[in-house]
Amino acid sequence: MSRSAHPAGPRHADVLTEGHYSAPAADLNVLDEKVWSRTVTRDADGALTVGGITVARLAEEFGTPAYFLDERDFRARCRAWADAFGPDADVFYAGKAFLSRAVVRWLKEEGLNLDVCSGGELTTALDAGMPAERIAFHGNNKTVAEIERAVEAGVGRIVLDSFQEIVRVAHVARRHGVRQRVQIRVTVGVEAHTHEFIATAHEDQKFGIALADGQAAEAVRRALALDGLELIGVHSHIGSQIFDMAGFEVSARRVVQLLAEIRDEHGVELPEIDLGGGLGIAYTSEDDPREPHEIAKALSDIVTRECEAAKLRTPRISVEPGRAIVGPTAFTLYEVGTIKPLEGLRTYVSVDGGMSDNIRTALYDAEYSVALVSRTSDAEPMLVRVVGKHCESGDIVVKDAFLPADLAPGDLIAVPATGAYCRSMASNYNHALRPPVVAVRDGEARVIVRRETEEDLLRLDVG
Ligand code: LLP
Repeated sequence: MSRSAHPAGPRHADVLTEGHYSAPAADLNVLDEKVWSRTVTRDADGALTVGGITVARLAEEFGTPAYFLDERDFRARCRAWADAFGPDADVFYAGKAFLSRAVVRWLKEEGLNLDVCSGGELTTALDAGMPAERIAFHGNNKTVAEIERAVEAGVGRIVLDSFQEIVRVAHVARRHGVRQRVQIRVTVGVEAHTHEFIATAHEDQKFGIALADGQAAEAVRRALALDGLELIGVHSHIGSQIFDMAGFEVSARRVVQLLAEIRDEHGVELPEIDLGGGLGIAYTSEDDPREPHEIAKALSDIVTRECEAAKLRTPRISVEPGRAIVGPTAFTLYEVGTIKPLEGLRTYVSVDGGMSDNIRTALYDAEYSVALVSRTSDAEPMLVRVVGKHCESGDIVVKDAFLPADLAPGDLIAVPATGAYCRSMASNYNHALRPPVVAVRDGEARVIVRRETEEDLLRLDVG
């Protein structure tokens, strides 16, 4: 495709006063290491490389759009979480963020546990060899068939989410002649500072059992009375993409209070608490995420302090980061197709993917960054909106960003921090073919989830 200069759209102060974007970075060629995975760099010719391979080679071999996942970074993040929490705590990777057999093997090798929330995720985990006792099974409406499979497989814990489920799991466990280890998910009444669709511990939503009106205490009573269940603890997940530790502290305090009430009423000290996932990552240079060791320290300090005050033995803590592990490790590579400058507004840059490979912008108004990665450019910054090829105007990948004004069809651009909730929420809208996930490490790239084909689409269409 041509790389000729293209008439640039508006890019000056007239439009900079509108919208939610910040001023362009001083040098658009500089890759902010906060949002890119750790082995990403530019080579001598200015092309982005990951794991030592240039994007031009990756695009040629695997096509676009595609997700490229930095395996070394993924493994390093797993280790950072495991080391930060240490041997007296457990880190469960939340598979919903992104799960594949390769990911399961990496988790297993790096000593992490795995949280699954559907029969499909459970199958992937078991198939790739994750020991069942290292799996936690979540979900607000697990089917009886799913519960059967989880109990049969011997999962380490099932997180009970409703009164019906307490009975269902107890029933299945008795039928299998086992005592299933369970936790009860409680809603602690914390309104996490995040988009309302992903804040989950305030009361008006579908997850968990409320602490506030004694429901959680009642759930504990019922679970303790059923001999198919071994109640090992209480679980709380307050939301996603959270930076402020205050919500976690309130959550931890309330969960510990519940443990104290359980001790007072039943004479048992539950040995575990799970504080869920939800830790935020940097999608743009504006975001300042916490490091795992800061998070671990904040959580363990508050739990220890509250337990001392309540004269409880400190329970074993577990956490369930998904996004914070996989999110920063991948970027999506697109080829620029068309460029439309809209006078006085912005320039629309259309790429060969869109809302089918990243629904988060449309769904949550999520912010992303973008960079020209097949080359560097000294052209001045141009305000752009990166859009996809789908048949609706909400098909936006990056709402407001700056790219060099000499951007041209055929250029490769990349959106960083797409490792979490992009491939896992990808769709076939407009019969788009879901992109592959390619793991890159030490000069080698291999497909871990292949690109869909039109035959895949037709295979499901049996009419
Ligand atoms: N544990 C539980 C019980 C959860 O429900 C979740 C996420 C996690 C852990 C992991 O949360 P993370 O650390 O990844 O934030 N699709 C949305 C996020 C939905 C999260 C649902 N539950 C998004 O794209 O932002």
